[in-house]
Amino acid sequence: MVKIAVMGHGVVGSGVAELLQKNAAHIAAKAGEEIVLERVLDLREFPDLPYADKFTKRFADISDDPTIQIVVETMGGLTPAYDYVKACLLAGKSVVTSNKELVAQKGDELLAIAKEKGLNFLFEASVGGGIPVLRPLDQCLAANEVSEVTGILNGTTNFMLTRMIEDGMPFEEALLLAQKRGYAERDPSADIDGLDACRKICILASLAFGRHVYPAQVRTEGIREITLTDVRLAAAVGGVIKLIGKAVKNGEHVSCAVAPMIVRKEHLLSDVRDVFNAILVRGDAIGDVVFYGRGAGKLPTASAVLADVIDEVKHLKARKYLCWSAGAPDYAIDFGLLPARMLLRVRADADKKADLAAAFGNIEFVTCDALPQDELAFVTSAMTEKELDAALKAVSGAEPVRRLRLAEL
Ligand code: HSE
Repeated sequence: MVKIAVMGHGVVGSGVAELLQKNAAHIAAKAGEEIVLERVLDLREFPDLPYADKFTKRFADISDDPTIQIVVETMGGLTPAYDYVKACLLAGKSVVTSNKELVAQKGDELLAIAKEKGLNFLFEASVGGGIPVLRPLDQCLAANEVSEVTGILNGTTNFMLTRMIEDGMPFEEALLLAQKRGYAERDPSADIDGLDACRKICILASLAFGRHVYPAQVRTEGIREITLTDVRLAAAVGGVIKLIGKAVKNGEHVSCAVAPMIVRKEHLLSDVRDVFNAILVRGDAIGDVVFYGRGAGKLPTASAVLADVIDEVKHLKARKYLCWSAGAPDYAIDFGLLPARMLLRVRADADKKADLAAAFGNIEFVTCDALPQDELAFVTSAMTEKELDAALKAVSGAEPVRRLRLAEL
């Protein structure tokens, strides 16, 4: 019998407790031992739950209990999750977390402590919710040199963009609907400003390339500015707008970004709709692999957490998987240095077309009903952001309104 504790009885933590009770026999058979929920840390009280007697408000009831061998952290955020997880590892307990902010900021340090202590620190649920992606990336694709990872990593924004694309719903209305359905947070900025996707691409890049990429090293842009005009222009160039997280190996360096990008309609990722997530990994032997499924939600995420718990139960005396080294300020280089085709909207008179063509070279003008009269829109050939800025500067009377990268897939 192995005793575990859960820290944080929110959506995911309560899902872990629920699934552990519901599938107890099956989980015990998989783990080879019974897994017992010994403690739940939360400041709130849940007197009606069948495991109400397990609740505590004192972290020490977990950290100082030598019979608890595995701790699940589902509190979210850095404080106090970071201190608590570190203390658990230092106290000799293996840890499972679903907390992407914690792993994206502190993964290298916590993995190093786990390694030194001969413990496991696993976090499959931190990326893609219930989609198995970190373990396959680390294990099944281990023989590949991975050159890039591209993903639709945030369910809330993908739901909103799907409504904008398919129903012509304005951004604000799509956000309200996402909130009503319980997808978006009350303060949805982590979703719509790209921070959540940023944390997830950090974890994927760190694992795929072996060195920590920190959130501050990822150029991050959300979907707040995206309008139905952009959506229609994207359709006019044969694509859909998706919030894309991308990490590209660049020699000894890595370039990472989160931004709304245009995905061409014939690509698999363009069909990832609603709250679904997908992660494409490109390896030199396997080619492209896509992991697809529910990226958020109580039970999908709990299923990934409990799979990690089962793995830790089976490996209480051995370390396995998931390791990367610390990052460095010069490891990540600007994503804007990677050339790409761009869709540009500029405020300019129609007679500026020739000047724009002269400055940008080979461009294709596009339009849609919604494009304001005083704007021009066009797609460039592949160029870096620096080249694009220089070309824009060379044309007087063309004021930039929006730039959207065409995802290279
Ligand atoms: N807010 C996140 C999303 C939850 O919408 O994808 C899962 O990380």
